[in-house]
Amino acid sequence: MIGVQLKTFPFVLCLAAAMAIPVLAQDAKPTFRLDGGNTTYAFGVNERGELQQVYWGGRIAPTDPIPAAAGKMEWASFDGSYNNTPQEYAGWGQGLYMEPALKVSFADGNRDLVLHYLSSTKPDAQSLDIVLKDISRAVTVTLHYKMDAESGILARSATVENGEKQPITIEQEAAAAYSLPPAHYTLSYLSGRWAGEWTLNQETIHQGQRVLESRRGSTGHQLNPWFAIARGDADEDHGEVWFGELAWSGNWRITVEQDTLDAVRVTGGFNPFDFGYSLKTGEKLESPVFYAGYSAHGIGGASRQLNKFTVEHVLPTAPKPKPRPVIYNSWEATEMNVSEAGQIAMAEKAATLGIDRFVMDDGWFGKRKTDHAGLGDWYVDPDKFPHGLKPLIDRVHALGMDFGLWVEPEMVNPDSDLYRAHPDWAINFPGRPRMEQRTQLVLNLARPDVRAYVFGFLDKLLTENQIAFLKWDYNRNWSEPGWDQQQGADQKKIYVDFVRNVYSILAELRAKHPGIEIESCSGGGGRVDLGILHYTDEVWPSDNTDPFDRLTQQWGFTHAYPNQVMLAWVTDSPHWMNNRATTLTYRLLSSMEGSLGIGANLNKWNDADFATAKRLIAAYHEVQLTVTQGDLYRLIAPTNNVTGPSQFAATEMVAPDKHQAVLFAYANGTNEGRNFPLLQWKGLDPAATYKLTTIEGTTLPGTPASASGAWWMNHGLDILLHGDFVAAAFRLDRQ
Ligand code: DGJ
Repeated sequence: MIGVQLKTFPFVLCLAAAMAIPVLAQDAKPTFRLDGGNTTYAFGVNERGELQQVYWGGRIAPTDPIPAAAGKMEWASFDGSYNNTPQEYAGWGQGLYMEPALKVSFADGNRDLVLHYLSSTKPDAQSLDIVLKDISRAVTVTLHYKMDAESGILARSATVENGEKQPITIEQEAAAAYSLPPAHYTLSYLSGRWAGEWTLNQETIHQGQRVLESRRGSTGHQLNPWFAIARGDADEDHGEVWFGELAWSGNWRITVEQDTLDAVRVTGGFNPFDFGYSLKTGEKLESPVFYAGYSAHGIGGASRQLNKFTVEHVLPTAPKPKPRPVIYNSWEATEMNVSEAGQIAMAEKAATLGIDRFVMDDGWFGKRKTDHAGLGDWYVDPDKFPHGLKPLIDRVHALGMDFGLWVEPEMVNPDSDLYRAHPDWAINFPGRPRMEQRTQLVLNLARPDVRAYVFGFLDKLLTENQIAFLKWDYNRNWSEPGWDQQQGADQKKIYVDFVRNVYSILAELRAKHPGIEIESCSGGGGRVDLGILHYTDEVWPSDNTDPFDRLTQQWGFTHAYPNQVMLAWVTDSPHWMNNRATTLTYRLLSSMEGSLGIGANLNKWNDADFATAKRLIAAYHEVQLTVTQGDLYRLIAPTNNVTGPSQFAATEMVAPDKHQAVLFAYANGTNEGRNFPLLQWKGLDPAATYKLTTIEGTTLPGTPASASGAWWMNHGLDILLHGDFVAAAFRLDRQ
């Protein structure tokens, strides 16, 4: 039986590696402090035994006082102190009206849960585990904290354990709750739809809840599990911003809530909608990780911090991911009409451009003539590839490229051998209709037999063929989320177990096939989050490849994710979706902001097109590391779809050691002969001398060949850029 008495903990635990441990609390109410980068995060145990946040913001001196935790005032007889206190992890009980971190029901019908501090351990120099326990029941929660020493980004998660003799049901489990004191705040978040992802929304936080969530089984195109909260008049470059991101690819929820006393609490974790996870005696449920950080340099500073952290700590090849290969993908050119001869002919053209990787998309397997059939039957279509994939792969290798292949492992078409053999493998409620989307159903990957099948065919594919890369697609959301192998309410475990199995398959494939690279695609950007990005190397942000739409999408996307993972293809003009005509140069420069790919029909290109693309792909290779892993400065915003196209847009990336910077400028429509705005570079070393190289475009007379960082940042670069959908790019190299 676990006791409930507080242990005496007479010092502050400090996670800053070499820092002396200051003694701040001498009683039974310990205070904990985490320092990293420019951030300090502190919390302590209040007079009732609850764990309460006491500070989160700019880094303070090691000797500075940390206020002792003290429960907040009650507000008359309607909002008690338990509700108003910024608890680190509040159980639903005792009059909590704010969003709970944990809600549990017990076998005897009790649903009151009040978590008090029990103990703490320090697994390593940068981590801290805090154990909370209900005031009478044997339910414990271990809160895991890990602060990155360089960025100050905190990774928090929670493990709930049932120590009761009877099972309990977890109805809601957050990873963490983060609190901010009363102030005027603006919330930023990303929303969208298929082919219209990554709209940046900004709104004042008012009393009540703003819920960001997915109930779709996966992350979703509609809302992304990222937020940023700016204080007062903070903007792109200035002011305080708190930000966070939930690393989960299933149903998720982030609740941003201003309380009665104007404080803000952000609670994130499994989506409690239709949630229920039963734990037998001794069983545990671990939440996803909810990352959070603080920037004193505006929303631009916040995204630079987060994106660097993702590259160095989250991606599977962190801390030093290689630059992404420049790919060719055949989807928009051929759709499912793939064949050995057609793909080889395309690969031969792609190779002349300096492409590193040739990817064959949908259509190569089963009876996949259209999207009405074939998913689930992962054998090579003998009509399209009579000799298997080998002749194509060999030719791609001979051309100096490696080979990638499209798969959609979690799906099945009812018109497939797999479905005919195993109709019960699709997610369904027995006796109820199965709603098809794109004539496909979702396989229940939570089932061990389905997991074994999916891992088995992928493993075989990679073992039998020299495949360097999988484009892993996922083209619908869930419906009728039943799991009839499970009893009653345990069917709801599908929400967690499915996602864990996706992750475990990805991890096992990577372990068994070292070097394999994987893209997360879900009809575009439907499954982009830091959970899947722990196992995948890049994502497909959108099926919308219109280069102007992409500029606005890339603007939003980069608030939450690094350019390194942002695949961007150059496709045909006029664009299939908007019928917008653009120059090849504009399309190339739009895509060169991220990880560059070509997805155009090369059979339609003329010699001049090949020459332009070859030249700009070569230029891209020279700046790729700066573009994809450097610090991004958003200079001029392309306006979103609601307010209409903006005239101009510009972004800049600076290498971490500041030896190089790259600037992209776009005139999306020139009105009244207006000149392009002066481009004042950012983030350079003011004392260093930088040489200017024009990648594409024209500078105004008088532009120096080289000048100090101070000159480029203060005087700035004047360029000539007139027209509709025209673009320019420049680089600076330190001398
Ligand atoms: C959706 C993806 O986003 C596209 O790029 C393409 O792979 C198709 N699926 C293939 O069905």
